[in-house]
Amino acid sequence: MTAKRSVVLGCGSYLPQKVLTNAELAARIDTSDEWIVQRTGIRERHIAAEGEFTSDLALHAARAALDHAGLDAQAIDLIVLATSTPDNTFPATAVAVQNGLGINHGAAFDLQAVCSGFVFALATADNFLRAGAYKRALVIGAETFSRILDWNDRGTCVLFGDGAGAVVLEAQDQPGKPSDRGVLTTHLRSDGRHKAKLFVDGGPSTTQTVGHLRMEGREVFKHAVGMITDVIVDAFNATGTTAEDIDWFIPHQANKRIIDASAHKLHIAPQKVVLTVDQHGNTSAASIPLALAVAVKDGRVKKGDLVLFEAMGGGFTWGSALVRW
Ligand code: ACO
Repeated sequence: MTAKRSVVLGCGSYLPQKVLTNAELAARIDTSDEWIVQRTGIRERHIAAEGEFTSDLALHAARAALDHAGLDAQAIDLIVLATSTPDNTFPATAVAVQNGLGINHGAAFDLQAVCSGFVFALATADNFLRAGAYKRALVIGAETFSRILDWNDRGTCVLFGDGAGAVVLEAQDQPGKPSDRGVLTTHLRSDGRHKAKLFVDGGPSTTQTVGHLRMEGREVFKHAVGMITDVIVDAFNATGTTAEDIDWFIPHQANKRIIDASAHKLHIAPQKVVLTVDQHGNTSAASIPLALAVAVKDGRVKKGDLVLFEAMGGGFTWGSALVRW
């Protein structure tokens, strides 16, 4: 019996040109390279230029993913864009990308699950494709978090960066076995009791301002590893796989300590973990496809590899996806 799967045809990413190092931050606020590296593993992050918007970053990443897939943009009939930093309150940043690609058929919409956005968007697109509603999807994570940071709050402004990443998915009939290519399983969770632990203190309905990111860092840290590992165990159970079967673990890049602790708890070997947080910082919904693009480009991720994604973020939201490349 065959099964419809969302097979990844290509991926791409984009980082703004400007790099902001820890040393530059230390010259502006009371922090140090040593403190940031020790607590987070972050050494530098990219910052969007004035006049460079989330949709610009997303469009670059989408074009790179289409190039990598060897596809014309007209082949795409669904765009799901995960972001917490849209160009405008509305319309969706996804329609700006759709327009930039010259597509005027199919559907394009944004999805908001903060740092879990890419996994939520991947799961959403996968369900549409497997249901037969669309044929080929662009799944994009794109952020300009630099625009919602309080640059005087050293507890948060050192953590985040800007960037975008994208994958192209195509609905294909596969043999219906664990060795199938494509998205094998996705697991999404949310718990709104934690909504005040990581939030932006503004918005159209509350303050009519954009607001700034606020976070109880310790509280986030306390919950992160348990939530991440729970939802990965769900992915293992759903597919009959174990940590041994994983070729590459590509987690949301928030903090090296959270990543290391999660991999350790799950017995995922350190050499299977893709780490880019040192160079990108936390780019929220963009971090997984940015890391994926690095590991594909340098030849680590190869056809047939089993790739595990996970993310956790504001809400709280968290999720996992298991994909055969
Ligand atoms: N430089 C120097 N000192 C700092 C800085 C800084 N940038 N930020 C905070 N401190 C100080 C604090 O003021 C405090 O000083 P005090 O003891 O004199 O009061 C001290 O460092 C300890 O502060 P804590 O906030 O308790 O530091 P902690 O060890 O918890 O580390 C951190 C903070 C790195 C944010 C940590 O809590 C963390 O990683 N949390 C996870 C949060 C995260 O990754 N969020 C990303 C978004 S959610 C997600 O994507 C999963």
